[in-house]
Amino acid sequence: MVDQDKQIIEQLRDEIRHHDHLYYVEDKPELNDSEYDALMRRLKELEALHPQWAVSDSPSQRVGGMRAEKFAPIVHKTPMLSLDNAFSVEELRDFHNRVVKTLGDDKPIEYIVELKFDGLGVSLTYENGTLIQGATRGDGKVGENITANIKTIGSVPLKVRTEDFPGYFEVRGEVLMNRDGFEALNRMREEAGEAPFANPRNAAAGSLRLLDAGITATRPLEIFIYSLGYVAEHKGAGFATHEETLQALKRMGFRVNEHCFLCQGIEEVVAKVEEWQTKKSDLEYDVDGLVVKVNSIASHKKLGATSKYPRWATAFKFTAEQAETRALEIICQVGRTGAVTPVAILEPVFLSGSTVSRATLHNEDEIRRKDIRAGDRVVIEKAGEIIPKVVRVILNGEGERGPAFQMPTQCPECDSSLVRPEGEVVWRCLNFSCPAQVKERLCHFASRNAMDIDHLGPAIIDQLVETGKARRFSDLYILTREDLISLERMAEKSANNLLASIAKSKQAGLARLLFGLGIRHVGQRAAVVLAQTFQTMERIRQESVEGLESVMEIGPIIARSLRAYFADEANIREIETLSRCGVELSVLQSASTEGALERVLEGKQLVLTGTLKNFTRNEAKEIISALGGRVTSSLSQKTDYLLTGTDPGSKLNKAKELGVKILEEEEFQKWTGQARDE
Ligand code: IVH
Repeated sequence: MVDQDKQIIEQLRDEIRHHDHLYYVEDKPELNDSEYDALMRRLKELEALHPQWAVSDSPSQRVGGMRAEKFAPIVHKTPMLSLDNAFSVEELRDFHNRVVKTLGDDKPIEYIVELKFDGLGVSLTYENGTLIQGATRGDGKVGENITANIKTIGSVPLKVRTEDFPGYFEVRGEVLMNRDGFEALNRMREEAGEAPFANPRNAAAGSLRLLDAGITATRPLEIFIYSLGYVAEHKGAGFATHEETLQALKRMGFRVNEHCFLCQGIEEVVAKVEEWQTKKSDLEYDVDGLVVKVNSIASHKKLGATSKYPRWATAFKFTAEQAETRALEIICQVGRTGAVTPVAILEPVFLSGSTVSRATLHNEDEIRRKDIRAGDRVVIEKAGEIIPKVVRVILNGEGERGPAFQMPTQCPECDSSLVRPEGEVVWRCLNFSCPAQVKERLCHFASRNAMDIDHLGPAIIDQLVETGKARRFSDLYILTREDLISLERMAEKSANNLLASIAKSKQAGLARLLFGLGIRHVGQRAAVVLAQTFQTMERIRQESVEGLESVMEIGPIIARSLRAYFADEANIREIETLSRCGVELSVLQSASTEGALERVLEGKQLVLTGTLKNFTRNEAKEIISALGGRVTSSLSQKTDYLLTGTDPGSKLNKAKELGVKILEEEEFQKWTGQARDE
């Protein structure tokens, strides 16, 4: 019986490894989420029954439960070198000429051109086929031991699939975050009142270096392996070319990037870099250039390396789109949770398709590092091509500069003292009644994705707060026509419209209300899941942390935050007041069929394109989520349906190429019409 269990454990591990590989590396999943979860649950149960058979490469070990105090240093067995850069085609040709000269024969040089991923370099070490260590590149000589974090990345094999390298070997690659994943993570952070990451690279680096690998496991990290590192008893490992090495890495189950080109001679390389200068934006992740590597391993040996970089490779850097302008002023904004963010107000300038008039300066440390001052001329860039940032100040020695930036010590809105909690980079205003926070909270409550109160925009909220007419959410529901008419530019008709929208929002339903309350870490998705699972506010309030955590997609952070929220008497009183005002605290009757609705999209991934006639994108997303599906922003083989409106754009062709099913809006409505809260 016990022996049988051992056999089943082994079978389950192999089966899960196989499906992990299909899902993460090959992008061709064969199981749906619940089938996969069932396998994993069975494995975990059996492993819990037989702890004597625990092994570190079991697929159940991806989520590190242990919290590290700090990362231990790892000395790399061979240094992780950097790459020399070529910033122009001329510099690329110079690199080639040096290669030709050193190799000294007149055979044409074969190159491999790869993407230069803008992430974090890592080293993975395997012993007898099992992952034993993951490390950051660090300074190239000494990195940090991040094994637990690395194990959470689904596309990292914990055990390799072939025995191409016996014994002990190391592979190297780059950990990164897709733009999609980055945007979703930042949305969640913003909804939860946390500072967003500046770009996907920072998000990947921050996620990989978290001491609690349990949190890393929730972050959408990806990896591409681009080379072998140290190999014990390395006899060239039998490979004549870099191309063969990559093939072997693929066979072993590593995720090697598909955009990898064999070029005969430098002219083909030049054509590739020119092609990719524009093509790079079609990728789902950021690349900052291409890496050009001599293909022959024998030539690597002849060319050698300096102490910093190999002479057989170079990085061709793409030019980031930049613009010059003036920072007119540096202001500090107070967010919903009191976080104070410095922002540069710029002389408007056109950059990568839009006019930019502000740029985030992230935090005090960043301003200090770059010494940005009001009045300075600055170079701005779209970081990760999404958020404009100030790259540097242009000092031309003309005229006096303004004084160095000083973070205010008092809140610019309510004058209470700001605090910077130890270990954090963010200054916060802790005054819950700070008018800036009150306004932001009310704006969030009224916003489209929350209670969706039409006509209640920031200008009116400012006035309501400043005249003392609204402070808490429930105050909105006791506003009278007279209260509104006394506001500036508020005619009788607008006042009536606004009152009608406020009244209508009472029926917004539990999910929207939960999101609107602005409970830390409870984003839109979590709110929908909580509402569907528990149906009433009261049941959520009564639930234990464990009970909340047992819900799929609700992690310990959300669960603890909910408990803390409901432990605060003032919050309970506010919810009771809302209820007395007639605000619905349960899932709506029409939507309560949500739970009973056939979840026709269970486990399915959808991408939206074109303009939908009957839904906003957010409405469509909510409905899809209520039916068990997920919306992602870019197409891949994992996509099940492309939902198309009018003017679908290039995604339609891509979907056809990938064989993704096309779902027209009318068809979608037929499936889901009942899911709308009419
Ligand atoms: S090869 C000795 N290939 O770029 C060869 N590196 O500036 C060095 N990187 O630390 C590594 N994409 O983290 C290589 N396709 C690629 C790469 C790549 C990104 C990073 C890597 C390295 C840095 C060097």
